[in-house]
Formats: sequence, structure tokens, C-alpha cells
Amino acid sequence: MTETAGSTTTVQDALRVAIVGTGAIAHAHARVLATDPRVTLVAVADPNPEVRDAFADEYAVPGRYADLDALLAAQVDVPDVVHLCTPPGLHRDQAVAALRAGAHVVCEKPPVLSLADLDAVLAVADEVGRRYAVVFQQRTGTAVGHVQRLLADGELGRPLVGVCHTLWYRKQEDYYAVPWRGRWATEGGGPLLGLGIHQLDLLGFLLGEWAEVDARAFRLARDVETEDTSTATVRFANGAVVSVLTTALAPRQTSYVRIDTTLGTVEVEHLYGHDARSWRLTPAPDRTGGDPAPAPASWTLPSDDEPSGHTPLLRAVYDALRDGGPLPAVAAEPHRSLELVTAIYASAALGRPVTKDDLAPGSTLRDGFLHGVEDLRDTTGALTPAALSRRTT
Ligand SMILES: NC(=O)c1ccc[n+]([C@@H]2O[C@H](COP(=O)([O-])OP(=O)(O)OC[C@H]3O[C@@H](n4cnc5c(N)ncnc54)[C@H](O)[C@@H]3O)[C@@H](O)[C@H]2O)c1
Repeated sequence: MTETAGSTTTVQDALRVAIVGTGAIAHAHARVLATDPRVTLVAVADPNPEVRDAFADEYAVPGRYADLDALLAAQVDVPDVVHLCTPPGLHRDQAVAALRAGAHVVCEKPPVLSLADLDAVLAVADEVGRRYAVVFQQRTGTAVGHVQRLLADGELGRPLVGVCHTLWYRKQEDYYAVPWRGRWATEGGGPLLGLGIHQLDLLGFLLGEWAEVDARAFRLARDVETEDTSTATVRFANGAVVSVLTTALAPRQTSYVRIDTTLGTVEVEHLYGHDARSWRLTPAPDRTGGDPAPAPASWTLPSDDEPSGHTPLLRAVYDALRDGGPLPAVAAEPHRSLELVTAIYASAALGRPVTKDDLAPGSTLRDGFLHGVEDLRDTTGALTPAALSRRTT
């Protein structure tokens, strides 16, 4: 029995949780789970015994398996929740296996490698009555929630233009030495899918549905099958136009999202997580051309600030799993950022703007943007420069 302030939790009440993939990001999950007295980490799976055992020792996890199949076969009771912290190319099959075994799934981004796979996994979750929660933690935290409400309620005016930068630095010798990275089959994309998707997810949370993407992709300095840099102009359904730049080649790293509206500018600058100090709201000058009008009181960010991150996201997911209700939107709406990534790759490869209609259910691009450009892969499987950005030929 676990005693907590004001409550008593029996071991029987605790959700039994397994983590599959015990590499870098799995620690973020385990650290959050360790703070929840109503969770018991019962098993981990990873084919690398050293990584797996060190992880299991650190978090005192009794069950240790080489893969998910062995874990599911060996557990007397299927875990209530399975966290997938594995390379992206494994997410689809592992999610389906865990859901069909009877577990809820919490999956790291990117959820799967194509929109069609995402539809399929969500359909299985519906069929078996289990939840499929995806981790996009940039949408979490008190400040971003406040800014999103201001934009949605029109208190920041009408969004006009914006900037979405993921300027990160990832080296060949370590980051891209990991065999699953930089390959279409195992990572599903380059820094756009692996890194920039975080900022695209935040951008979509703030601006809503997108309408059209015009993009280019480049392989400038890394020995990968994918791009290492991409640019895009994204037009949103509300009319806002945003310039997106994503790269793994920027030594002074930053994550930056900026939206200029009829009433002011809202910006967030950080690296891997933000809180109220990362945000800046600047009112537009008044109509007489004088000093900026004072910011309305409603623009003041809340003082009970909680940073973005895995903590608020997993708390919201576990609250929903315990209540048996629907997942919180932050974990239940993974489509938009994967659509934006797919549209950016497709636009670059096809050499034309891509609209939301291009990705409608049944379209070939929904199966993955590579479907339109398979003739443009070289003998090693890498996209040729022409396929990365067709207009550069
Ligand atoms: N939300 C975030 O901020 C964030 C940050 C980093 C990574 N991620 C995502 O988390 C996932 C993992 O990334 P990472 O950086 O932790 O990678 P990693 O390479 O550090 O860890 C992946 C682990 O999965 C294990 N693995 C490989 N095949 C397996 C299998 N069949 N069954 C079980 N385990 C297997 C590997 O041995 C490795 O230990 C990716 O989808 C990545 O995009 C998310």
C-alpha cells in the first residue's frame, strides 16, 4: 500500500505499465511515472541487454524482455498501459500488437510513418476499446494554453503572418550514427519528421487547420537518405501565412514560433521546452502611430505557471485512462502535425503546392509521400536531390 498526502492507494488500484524501448526518451517517461503512486512499472522490453538492464535497475522494474512479443507472452496479466519509446518505424506494429493484447498505448512522436497507418492504428484502438495516446508535449504547459485561448477567442486579433523555426544541431558521428536515424524505412523522414514536427504541432495548435503547403527540401551536410534541411510556406485556413525552416545544421540552436496578428505579436523561443518566461506578447502600435498601447489585462500569462513537457501530458493521459473517459485533446489529435510533415515532403518531391485535399482519405499521399516519387530513389534507397526538391534539377 502506498501512502500519499491525503490519499491511500492500494497496489491493486495501480495501473500496471510497461515501457518498450529503453533508450533516451524512455527516461522522461519513467521519471514521470515514478512520481505517480497509482502507477507500477512492471516490465520493460529492449533488445539491447545492457541498456535494458541499466534502465530496469534504475527504476526497479522486475520484468525485463528482449521485445514486446516476449513481454506480452510472459506477463501473467497484460499491462494496462504500454509506452512505446522505440524507433518510429516500429510504432505501427507494436501499437497494434499492444492494443490487440488489451493494453492502452502511449506512443512517442512521430506516431507512425504515414497518415494511413495512423488511421489504421486508431481504428484498431476503437475496435478493441482501448486508447492510443501520442506524445506531442509542446502543446502542454500553462502559458501555451493561455495563448491558444487568446488566439481562438480573437483576443489577439486576426493572425496574419508567422515564423516557425526548428534550428537544431545534430552531428553525423553520434546522432546519425544510430542505425535507425536518417533512413526512410526506420525513421520515416529526416529532421522535419524527427525534430521540426514538435514546432509544427505547436504551430497547428495555435493557428488551427492548414490549407496549403509549398515546400523544398535539401541535403546539405549530413550523410543521410533523407533531407537535413527544409523550407516551407504554409497557408492556414484562417488566412495566416507562415514561413517554416527546419534544419539539423544550426550550431546555435533554437526553437522559435512567432505569429503576428492585427493586434500584436506573440512569440515563443526555447529549445526543448517552454514556460511563461519563453513567451513574449507585444501589442501593435496604436492607430495614431504613437507608443504601443498597453497590453490588455487578458494577455497577462497566468502566474501558476507549469512548463511544457511529459509531466502535464502524461498526467492528463493517465487521468483520462483512470476515469475511462476520452483522451485529452493533447494526446488524441496527432493528425495535424503528421499532415503538415507529409505535405511538406510531398510538395518538395512533387514540385508543386500540396493542399489538404491532396491528403484526403483514399489519396495515395496518405499512404506516405514516397508513393509519388519512388522512381526517384537511387540504388542505396536515398532520395535523389531531384526527389528531395524537384525544382533544383
Ligand atoms: N517527445 C520528445 O521530446 C522526444 C525526444 C526524443 C525522442 N523521441 C522519440 O522517441 C522515440 C525513441 O527515440 P530515442 O531518442 O529514445 O531513441 P533511442 O535510440 O535512444 O532509443 C530507442 C530504443 O529502442 C530500442 N529498440 C529497438 N528495437 C526495439 C524493439 N524491437 N523492441 C523494443 N525496443 C527496441 C533500442 O535498443 C533503443 O534502446 C522516437 O520515436 C523519437 O522520435 C521523442
